[in-house]
Amino acid sequence: MDGGTRPSLSAAVAVLVLVSTAVVAATSVNVTTLAFDDGYAPLFGKGNLVRSADGRSVSLLLDRYSGSGFISSDMYLHGLFSASIKLPSDYTAGVVVAFYTSNGDVFEKSHDELDFEFLGNVRGKEWRVQTNVYGNGSTSRGREERYYLPFDPTADFHRYSILWTADNIIFYVDDTPIREVRRSEAMGGDYPSKPMSLYATIWDASNWATSGGRYKVNYKYAPFVSSFADLTLLGCRLDPIQQVATTRSGCAAAVAEIAATGLAVMTPEKRRAMRAFRRQYMSYSVCYDRVRYPAPFPECDIVETEKERFGETGRLRFRRQRRRVRRGGRVAVVADSNRQPQM
Ligand SMILES: *[C@@H]1O[C@H](CO)[C@@H](O)[C@H](O)[C@H]1NC(C)=O
Ligand SMILES: *[C@@H]1O[C@H](CO)[C@@H](O)[C@H](O)[C@H]1NC(C)=O
Repeated sequence: MDGGTRPSLSAAVAVLVLVSTAVVAATSVNVTTLAFDDGYAPLFGKGNLVRSADGRSVSLLLDRYSGSGFISSDMYLHGLFSASIKLPSDYTAGVVVAFYTSNGDVFEKSHDELDFEFLGNVRGKEWRVQTNVYGNGSTSRGREERYYLPFDPTADFHRYSILWTADNIIFYVDDTPIREVRRSEAMGGDYPSKPMSLYATIWDASNWATSGGRYKVNYKYAPFVSSFADLTLLGCRLDPIQQVATTRSGCAAAVAEIAATGLAVMTPEKRRAMRAFRRQYMSYSVCYDRVRYPAPFPECDIVETEKERFGETGRLRFRRQRRRVRRGGRVAVVADSNRQPQM
């Protein structure tokens, strides 16, 4: 996967400037962060992975020779996987940044996976975020949801977190839960149940990312730089095959540590915030896609007032007008930007 070619000097300089001037937005998610080398290792495109001087953040580049990625050094059974991420700006059609957990390398036919995927766009159009959940090789039952964001994810760092316990999965954007999947008997093996690694990657998805491949990556705008800071890994480190704890304290300490963050608890207040986010920013939900799935998945929380706003393909019928702050600080009204075809 590695093109083996180092980025040009100008690219390297651009990245150094980006990394050294990075100011990380404070959020109230209060968890211990790791130095890159204490929890992660390069995965591919090594020359396109640039550590900050203090080793606590890292940038992944995509240029015409290679994308890049990193992986956690351990696998975790349940956990909190979190990072503050700043996405590449300007023209990013066809570019995908992914922050996800998977065990596909170990369990080829029965893998589990939890995804945040960030889909680049043509200039002036917003990035979109997709979440997905797979369990025990349920690749024929994709559980996609897509959202716009209440901020420009290329302007500042924002924290994206995947919380996975034995009972529920919650995707967070900063302090706002945007999706919860509660385990139920009916979900069976579709609920992820085996240790997973954390991955972060940037790659050329010209074939499908933007308007079904209509817009390709334009390398005139390369390198595309995505930066990762506030790296967090909490969970029970396990050997995936033997499923024995590789940490001495076993899983109890990890379970307690995750519980102490409070992130696994969905308070009424957090549920209201989640509903409000989804009402305003969700552009597709598998739960409302009656074409793909005439019967919704067991974990779907069908909100009648929400449902009527989505067509039978699960896509938002019409996007409400909303204010959008442009780069120059001017405020423009963007209406119906849902027009662009989805993947
Ligand atoms: C963050 O957590 C640590 C220990 O877990 C605690 O000592 C500290 O007061 C917390 N900070 C905030 C702002 O909640
Ligand atoms: C996972 O899938 C395999 C078949 O690939 C099946 O034999 C097994 O029972 C499934 N496990 C669960 C927990 O559903």
